[in-house]
Parts: sequence; C-alpha cells; structure tokens
Amino acid sequence: MSLDLRRLGVLISGRGSNLQAIIDAVEDGRLNATIAVVVSNQSEAGGLARARAAGIDTVHLDHRAEATREAYDRKLVAELQARGVGLVCLAGFMRLLSPTFLDAFPNAVLNIHPSLLPAFPGLDAQRQACEHGVKVTGATVHFVNAELDAGPIVAQVAVAVRDDDTAATLASRILEAEHKIYPEAIARVLDGGWSLAGRRVITT
Ligand code: GAR
Repeated sequence: MSLDLRRLGVLISGRGSNLQAIIDAVEDGRLNATIAVVVSNQSEAGGLARARAAGIDTVHLDHRAEATREAYDRKLVAELQARGVGLVCLAGFMRLLSPTFLDAFPNAVLNIHPSLLPAFPGLDAQRQACEHGVKVTGATVHFVNAELDAGPIVAQVAVAVRDDDTAATLASRILEAEHKIYPEAIARVLDGGWSLAGRRVITT
C-alpha cells in the first residue's frame, strides 16, 4: 500500500484524551485527515475504547512479547504500513522509538509533550515544572528524532503556573492546551508550506 501523509497512525499507551482531540478535529473538519489505525502497547488503554467508539481500526501490540526494541518496532512499522499510514502521531505513547522505526517514517513522526521543551523532557514533566518553580510551562508538538523529546519543534503553547498548583491541577490545564495545539500542529504539517532548516521548522 502506498503511503499517504493524510492517513494517520496514532500510537497510545493510556487514556487517549489527545487521541480524542484528534478524532474530534477530523470529525468536525478542522483536520483534513483519516485516522487509519490506533495502536496501543497496553491492552487496557482507554484510548482503544475511544477509537473503537469512533469506528477506527485498533491494534494491541504487547511490547513484552518481543525480545528487542527493534523487533517490536518492526511489528509496529508493519501494522502502520499495511494500512498506508504516512504520518505517525504519538499521543501519550510511553515508549522510545528505535532508528528502525524512525527510518521508516522520515520526518513523519510527531509527539506531544506536556512542557515547553527543551525544559522538562521525560516522565512527569508537569511535576518537574512544579518542583522547579517555573512560572510558565506549557505543551510542545515536535518531530520525533532519536533523542528523547528533542526533535524539531512544530508548535508550542504557554501555560502559567499558579501559586496553588499541584502537578495534577497544572497537568489538567496543560492538557486543555494540548487538545487545542495538537490537531492544529498536525494540520500545519499536513498542509505543507514549511521546511526544516537545521532544528527549525520554518514557513516557506
Ligand atoms: C499527555 O499529557 C501527553 O502530553 C503526555 O502523556 C499524556 C497522555 O495523555 N506525553 C508525554 O509525557 C510524552 N513524553 P492522553 O493519553 O490523555 O492523551
């Protein structure tokens, strides 16, 4: 099957609220794309039910069933390519992707992260922000490269940290911002008119 950039593969590990934001944006026409498949490494991921409710093909691929990251990633690539996926969107997918995966989708893997990268990469970004005492944090959509949370930035949105915030209250405000920014950033990537200049995603 040939690859069509507008055929999205969404990878999840959990609740799938960002997946839902993408589903909603496709359904109401803000995002001119088709979600070809939703893949989860966790069988209990709430996002799988959201996908099924929207009539989207789902796949559960258990990472514990594979001996190596590469073996797992080859299976992921096969599931996505079999459905003609051209753009991969990570939406709370809590696994690192190997060069095996990234080479199959050059400049075509996006991730959303709940901080203003390069601040607070990795796990628990909202807790990291609270503990560090920053006054502003936010969300970042970026291309995925071989380093953790480090690829070229497509879009960012700032969220103020309040004095009485906990990691949980801050996470819920950042999540609202994520739901807005992720479909917009995907649409921007699909619509073209941009190029990569080193690390910078610039308008052409
Ligand atoms: C989101 O906050 C997303 O930014 C974060 O996981 C959450 C998934 O929520 N991702 C990362 O931290 C990746 N490093 P969701 O399943 O409701 O979309």
